[in-house]
Amino acid sequence: MNNKNYFEWTPDLNVGIEAIDEQHKVLVSIFNRLTLAVSKDEGDRVIRSIIDSLMGYTKAHFSLEEKLLAEASYDGLSEHIAQHDEFIARLNDLATKFFVEDIPAYSELIELLRTWLIDHIRISDKKYSEVLRQANFSTVAWERKAQSEFYKLSDTTVLRIPDAW
Ligand SMILES: [Fe+2]
Repeated sequence: MNNKNYFEWTPDLNVGIEAIDEQHKVLVSIFNRLTLAVSKDEGDRVIRSIIDSLMGYTKAHFSLEEKLLAEASYDGLSEHIAQHDEFIARLNDLATKFFVEDIPAYSELIELLRTWLIDHIRISDKKYSEVLRQANFSTVAWERKAQSEFYKLSDTTVLRIPDAW
């Protein structure tokens, strides 16, 4: 693939909670779709729709993850929410550049996703999943809710992304 930023999912990124892992894989796919669109210069309309989907999916994923951590009474919940909020704030700043100021800050966006998002999964998300596992917290009920939320989401957000997944 002619995409130097292509990110390959590796098993060390799995947190061991199926719904979360599936959502993380979708986020990585959106990231790869974005870097492909940028590397092939597919144009503003396509790239903007991918950014739009990325933001929608990320926000939904974060809020479901936060619900899970709240249900599990996870000690690090407020710190985790603060990390999510910081990331969303940075995404919003970049989205403002794209959508309002018309500045194509692609490399900034790709760098943010590559470093922040992937590290967040690798470090912070794996940390909570380990704590939940050690506490024997069952994620079954939450997973059922999370899946149905994401079926709804996949009808809207994800399917709006232009081809070539
Ligand atoms: Fe997270």
